[in-house]
Amino acid sequence: MKQDISVSLGRLKLKNPVMVASGTFGYAEEFADFLDIKRLGAVVSKTVTIKPRQGNPAPRTCETPAGMLNSIGLENPGIEVFIEEKLPALKKTGVPVIVSIASEKDPQEFVVLARRLDKLNAIAALELNISCPNLKKNKLISQDPQATYALVKNVRKVCGKTLITKLSPNVADIAEIALAAEKAGSDCLAMINTLYGMSIDINKRRPKIAMGTGGLSGPAVKPVAVRMVREVYKRVKIPIIGMGGITCAEDALEFIIAGASAVSVGTANFVDPGVTIAIIEGIRKYLGENDIKDIKKLIGSLEGA
Ligand SMILES: Cc1cc2nc3c(=O)[nH]c(=O)nc-3n(C[C@H](O)[C@H](O)[C@H](O)COP(=O)(O)O)c2cc1C
Repeated sequence: MKQDISVSLGRLKLKNPVMVASGTFGYAEEFADFLDIKRLGAVVSKTVTIKPRQGNPAPRTCETPAGMLNSIGLENPGIEVFIEEKLPALKKTGVPVIVSIASEKDPQEFVVLARRLDKLNAIAALELNISCPNLKKNKLISQDPQATYALVKNVRKVCGKTLITKLSPNVADIAEIALAAEKAGSDCLAMINTLYGMSIDINKRRPKIAMGTGGLSGPAVKPVAVRMVREVYKRVKIPIIGMGGITCAEDALEFIIAGASAVSVGTANFVDPGVTIAIIEGIRKYLGENDIKDIKKLIGSLEGA
């Protein structure tokens, strides 16, 4: 029996639900030697801003039990160089290209970026990174439902492409933020971005990350992410891309059963750059073994919670 593992993210159709998470797969070309990228459901590029950014000072990453901290600080070449030099390679992958965007100071920068990217055929969707924990800001847009609503609404006005809003786990009630994004016209949600964290070098009595704090990712965050996907799934109607600590098909299936229509793999790409292909194959195998013809039957099928 051939299973149907295609899924929909609003108007965007994916041949399978496995994507790569922003910031962990570069601009795809870096990974071309390690896996057959055209087998992925979609690729999400590193978050891009209007102007180039050098990112935060080193050290910017450190390993933690079952995960890592990062404080890259949105290093990227800026939108014009991205369009000129990175987008052609992304397009060549042959899979839907999702471009992640962010502002540095003024939320209006999202609107400028969305307007610039809206007309480019190479792009299937935009992901609004309103949840980066590594910028010097008191509050993230995704920590405030009103700010989230206003931002998504303003971008929606200038952008006809599928809009994905990426949420932060660093909130008391993530469903409240998800509902604000949905109400403002977001087609889809991506969750979760990283959790605030800190690691200390006890000999130097200094943080291991130059900025002091970083974003925690990897298997350590998976139960938090699965719980949040479930909470949001029960409250919103738009599809969810689940992520946080996925390293194998079983992890991906947990997210799908909790309510994710698709999944993204981040930190695990650094451990095994071909892991996404094994995850796609594992999902197919699970469906076969459980006599499930269509993965869409599995989405949100959790019982008892
Ligand atoms: C080194 C690194 C860089 C990241 N850069 C970005 C980024 O530019 N934009 C973004 O939205 N998320 C970024 N993330 C967050 C991931 O996309 C993802 O949401 C998070 O790591 C959880 O998934 P994981 O546990 O599978 O890594 C980054 C994560 C890591 C580890």
